[in-house]
Amino acid sequence: MKKKISLIGAGQIGGTLAHLINLKEIADVVLFDVVEGTAKGKALDISQSNSVDGSNTEIIGTSKYEDIKNSDVVIITAGVPRKPGMTRDDLLGTNLKIIKQVAEGIKKNSPNAFVICITNPLDVMVMALQIYSGLPSNKVVGMAGVLDTSRFRYFLSKELKVPVKNIESIVLGGHGDTMVPMPNHTKVNGKLLREVIQKEKLDKIIDRTRKGGAEIIKFLEKGSAFYAPAAAGVEMAESYIKNLKKTLPCAAYLNGEYGYKGIYAGVPVVVGKNGIEKIIEIELDNVEKNNFDVSIKAVKELFDAAKKIDKDLEK
Ligand code: APR
Repeated sequence: MKKKISLIGAGQIGGTLAHLINLKEIADVVLFDVVEGTAKGKALDISQSNSVDGSNTEIIGTSKYEDIKNSDVVIITAGVPRKPGMTRDDLLGTNLKIIKQVAEGIKKNSPNAFVICITNPLDVMVMALQIYSGLPSNKVVGMAGVLDTSRFRYFLSKELKVPVKNIESIVLGGHGDTMVPMPNHTKVNGKLLREVIQKEKLDKIIDRTRKGGAEIIKFLEKGSAFYAPAAAGVEMAESYIKNLKKTLPCAAYLNGEYGYKGIYAGVPVVVGKNGIEKIIEIELDNVEKNNFDVSIKAVKELFDAAKKIDKDLEK
């Protein structure tokens, strides 16, 4: 039977997700948006590319939650993106209200789905989504680390003139300026990163990775990055749908791992047919652990701010 992926939000990332899923023939797609015309128009446009691309998936646009019924995966990008000068945290109040509506729609229509949140501020939105929807925490996950790692690997590949596929790496922590690129867990052609790059160059790349989203917003002026975020979301959805059991850095619910309980944070996880099947605990040195703690503290503070906006988040 064909799989079904519902995309809540048919904006820049939602539309790109739909196109990628269609090109890769991973599943049929339901493109949902409060602005019905956007969802229907994009669905029709992508459908009309099928005779050229040879894809055999179906894609519909809708603003009715019933249409997402029995989805295997739901990916959420509903919300407003950042404008130049804004931080992801500035989106908190607006996107929290949107996530609450979306969570209710998913709970009612697709409670067994694997749910991937992309809406920012990511770590708090995914935590709120899990609480509002009541779905099991292994089925509610945030997309951040795959994107942040992809940016880090790209910058390294340009600096070191090495194909990006020869660079293994991981970025942990929250999806914000406190994210934690992990040079000690990065290999270039099998060699430790520190052996092949000067410290000053590495520091610059780490800083650029942390500000990777803002760099793009500055160019675009209207809206934020969407191609790489969508590609990252698709990799997570595909690992679940095809039970690939890839190890991917995702915002996942911690239950004692890395010394934290009851909070979402970016950590390496195995994604397979049961959702998050395992959280991998890699060893952190003192600096990495300290950076990870700073990142978690930032997420906690923002979640406290969210709880002040909506008492329903107090568990
Ligand atoms: N339900 C469904 N869709 C909604 C809702 C809602 N309650 N509110 C807004 N939307 C839709 C908008 O109509 C718009 O089409 O969400 C879409 C968001 O699309 P864009 O504005 O193009 O934003 P995008 O670049 O896709 O980013 C979406 O992901 O990475 C994050 O920071 C980014 O939070 C932002 C989100």
